[in-house]
Amino acid sequence: MRVLCHILAAYLAVTWVTANSPVAEMRKLPEGLKLGVATASFQIEGGWNAADKSLSIWDTYSHIPGKIKDGTDGNDTCKSYEFYQRDIQMLKFLGVDFYRFSISWPRVLPTGFANKISEDGIGYYSRLVDELLANGIEPVVTMFHWDLPQSLQDLGGWANPLIADWFEDYARVLYDALGDRVKTWITLNEPKQMIIFGYGMERFAPNIVSPGIGDYIAVKNALLAHARAWHLYDKEYREKQKGTCGITIATDFREGLSDTPEDVELGHLAMDFEAGFYSHPIFSSTGGFPERMIKRIAEKSAEQGFPRSRLPELSQKEIDYIKGTSDFYGFNHYSTKFYTADGYKKGMYSIPSYDDDIGAVTNYKDYTPAPTIHTTKIPNGIRKALNWVKDNYNNPTVLITENGYGTFGGNNDIDRIDYYKAYLDAILDAIELDGCKVATYTAWSLMDNFEWDSGLGAKFGLFEVDFDDDQRTRKARLSALWYKNFIAQRSLDPEYMPEFEEKWF
Ligand SMILES: *[C@@H]1O[C@H](CO)[C@@H](O)[C@H](O)[C@H]1NC(C)=O
Repeated sequence: MRVLCHILAAYLAVTWVTANSPVAEMRKLPEGLKLGVATASFQIEGGWNAADKSLSIWDTYSHIPGKIKDGTDGNDTCKSYEFYQRDIQMLKFLGVDFYRFSISWPRVLPTGFANKISEDGIGYYSRLVDELLANGIEPVVTMFHWDLPQSLQDLGGWANPLIADWFEDYARVLYDALGDRVKTWITLNEPKQMIIFGYGMERFAPNIVSPGIGDYIAVKNALLAHARAWHLYDKEYREKQKGTCGITIATDFREGLSDTPEDVELGHLAMDFEAGFYSHPIFSSTGGFPERMIKRIAEKSAEQGFPRSRLPELSQKEIDYIKGTSDFYGFNHYSTKFYTADGYKKGMYSIPSYDDDIGAVTNYKDYTPAPTIHTTKIPNGIRKALNWVKDNYNNPTVLITENGYGTFGGNNDIDRIDYYKAYLDAILDAIELDGCKVATYTAWSLMDNFEWDSGLGAKFGLFEVDFDDDQRTRKARLSALWYKNFIAQRSLDPEYMPEFEEKWF
């Protein structure tokens, strides 16, 4: 068998050279493509009640028995609030160009409001930024990655339109304190996940179950809050700080299961619900919510006896205010789902709801399901999603701010390496063959962490974290060694597999 493989490999190598087929081709990365890894504050910091930090909605939620699948919480997680210098050592080991991390709002502003800035809180992030820069690593900072101060949730959180004021005030604190050194700001991470899962179903904090109503209200407020933070940067900070500011949107791909016109159209509708909801108002030339969504939700609302659409209107003034408020398209991507009308029955999902508004049956076709199903490996989906952004939004600069694969453990993670290789290959196709303007690639995640409702059980790390060890020792997985080599080579070698070596931090 082995010999046969060698003969086959040699044969392929020869045919590749002679026929110039793309088999096993080594691909150099485009000049200037930056490589990094990402984390988020609640998922790695711990220190949930350190100094004067107040509760975030994820502290509250994870403390309610039964909410987190494996019964864990975010009290300590990786203890990065204490051990961040080891995180930096790991980043250096990988050789990344940048590190995307997020800031905990209740750590910096314990009341939620900007009346009092925590010295410990802002000091922590200031040191982190300084030490990253001292090590030649660029900080890419997400202002909000879901850990809203509980005090603001008590006032309605994202369902309260005043959150646009609160978020602008918070953004100002961050620009003032860190903007001299931070040159890439991401306002919100994945509005869909935090809102549809948090206000529309029982899955995420804050657990406001108002499907098809509260979630849609929160989306409008989140878009306005984002726009406020961007306009603030644009007007008062851009000139002196010379950075960029934008939003990150989960842009998994959605498409029709079959070629019937009905399924194809369902795929377009699902993609609008998934990503267009957040990106169309900001990146399209017309602004506002996608027409398909406006029409669908208005029709269903009328059918259901609502005197007005459950999707709040954006006034022309609001449309104009939100339009154009991102210097780049922050793009997170994990997998692709397929949508069909076949087998869909009214009442499958609660009425009203986001899922009912789409009105489809979904699946992953016959692709091998990943251990965490929403990371099922469908590499051409990322190329399609990048082209969807390019075609719909006039080819903006894209920062791929997350991409990764979830398992339930194991250090010899060849499946994760295969995922990264295949997705990077598809991304290079999108860049080189399709002309998509991708400026960064970010692997999710630096290390295992608190994966929201899945708790500590779902593992996305290049580094494995020992959560039973008080020191939270981090151990390089095979994928960490692979990513390190990928960064060093600045090329994608489909054949390369590292030798395992023990590397602890
Ligand atoms: C986390 O903190 C909460 C609140 O004090 C506590 O109930 C819970 O037991 C803590 N979790 C762990 C794992 O100690």
